[in-house]
Amino acid sequence: MIEISDEQDPLWYRDAVFYEVHVKTFFDSNNDGIGDFTGITMKLDYLRDLGVTCIWLLPFYKSPLRDDGYDISDYYSIQPEYGNLSDFKVFLQEAHARGIRVIADLVLNHISDQNAWFQEAIRNPQSPKKDWFVWSDTEEKYKGVRIIFTDTETSNWAWEPHVKQYYWHRFYSHQPDLNYDNPEVREEIKNVIRFWCKLGIDGFRCDAVPYLFEREGTNCENLPETHAYFKEIRKLMDSEFPGTILLAEANQWPSEAKKYFGDEDEFHMAFNFPLMPRIFISLARENVLPIINIIKETLPIPATCDWGIFLRNHDELTLEMVSDEDRDFMYSEYAKIPKMRLNLGIRRRLAPLVDNDRASLELLYALIFAIPGSPIIYYGDEIGMGDNIYLGDRNGVRTPMQWSYDRNAGFSKADNEALYAPVIINPNFHYESVNVESESRLPTSLLNWIKKMIRVRKKFTKVLGRGEIRFLEHNNRRVLAYIREYEGEKMLCLFNISRKHTFVELDLREFAGTRPVEAITEAAFPSIGELPYFFTLPPKSFFWLSLLDPSEVKGEWET
Ligand code: NOJ
Ligand code: CA
Repeated sequence: MIEISDEQDPLWYRDAVFYEVHVKTFFDSNNDGIGDFTGITMKLDYLRDLGVTCIWLLPFYKSPLRDDGYDISDYYSIQPEYGNLSDFKVFLQEAHARGIRVIADLVLNHISDQNAWFQEAIRNPQSPKKDWFVWSDTEEKYKGVRIIFTDTETSNWAWEPHVKQYYWHRFYSHQPDLNYDNPEVREEIKNVIRFWCKLGIDGFRCDAVPYLFEREGTNCENLPETHAYFKEIRKLMDSEFPGTILLAEANQWPSEAKKYFGDEDEFHMAFNFPLMPRIFISLARENVLPIINIIKETLPIPATCDWGIFLRNHDELTLEMVSDEDRDFMYSEYAKIPKMRLNLGIRRRLAPLVDNDRASLELLYALIFAIPGSPIIYYGDEIGMGDNIYLGDRNGVRTPMQWSYDRNAGFSKADNEALYAPVIINPNFHYESVNVESESRLPTSLLNWIKKMIRVRKKFTKVLGRGEIRFLEHNNRRVLAYIREYEGEKMLCLFNISRKHTFVELDLREFAGTRPVEAITEAAFPSIGELPYFFTLPPKSFFWLSLLDPSEVKGEWET
């Protein structure tokens, strides 16, 4: 755990700026074409300067990598290409020295079929390990449970020829689900947690949380037993490793997603999966109602809990939890080429999704930095990296980080062919211009803009990180207008989500006597009075306005 005294606030995650990254993709220190722990350690200054305060590492445990590490063959060791435990310890120490916390992916629903636990179960069906998995003589059990990887799997059961039974798997058939009804399994996963927490990890992003238990007659998701087990894990973390957090990956409808906060005794955080696709729906429909409705539905949540707000991640942009109509609309707007689709989602990065439109990118980032929750940036999206839809599975959004216009985008000095994946050379996103070095030198680059926005977000961290949200009534569906408020500090946020110039008249009488001051440039606006307050907004634009007492305003535009 981090040992920086002024960062000991147990609610640190509510003010955090998260950065999601895969060790493999970030920087290759030994030039074998694969990123490693030593490499990511060398790039920690970059992340500190960007303003990141917590890194979420994708799975780095030993694995045959048939699901990019979400298929773990040994929970207690590191994938050799990424380094070893001592490299990991150095990374953690160096991150902490820079005031950056680290959470790790914890894959608890399933393992790799190469894991010794499964191998023992199939080689010796008499062994106690057999019951660590879920078996059936027929495929009839748990009928009707949805299939998640619809493009590859046709059943949640796979035949095991040695055992001569089927085993249960919610994801790839090479990922047998663990049997959480077995107390040994529950205990072993606690041991895994203890092992990494003792090394100093600051928490876990828990993978696939809804699926731990199975019960006949249910959809085998979000079962009470699953919640009860996570409450046990929370208790363990609170008592043995105070200050660590649990972040839930539960891609569910709002009512179920919210339950993972429990009564402040389960997860500290959960990804706001309900909100994410609706941001893109709103943008394409030029109508802010999908955003407003879903934020209202996902609030309130318990006081010490928070949403993780994200636009993109390492998976396809999931459309599992939207209506069929919205899914079709999303495909028609954002996945015009069939290869852009995967399972029930869209495998594209952020910048390509919005046709590399800078105004849209700024609008979207401004939104995720200013709605309730902590923002999570997916590596590379801060420089506007492109994708490669011709790589299989979700690999097109997992290509090497682009550091410079040198060979291999400065990611590695290996031969081009040796890279674990090719760098992006599509002319619109070519690494020769989309890279950290070039963007660092250009004052107006996306990277420099995001750095500035993170600084501003930190300056207003309490009101933006912890403040209440209240939507303001008006009659322009292109405009999102709300007040954030925390212990008397107030911020008015406005977003024009459309492609047109627009205007909005707001009844701000309750704030009469205060002056709006734009948060980024500190430009002061006229004081609020009794009359409706009028704003004009260029296409895809936003305002963050602190509402201040005129005596606090030291702007040059004194009106
Ligand atoms: C969710 C992860 O985000 C995804 O990448 C993975 O394939 C599945 N869980 C299965 O582990
Ligand atoms: Ca390497």
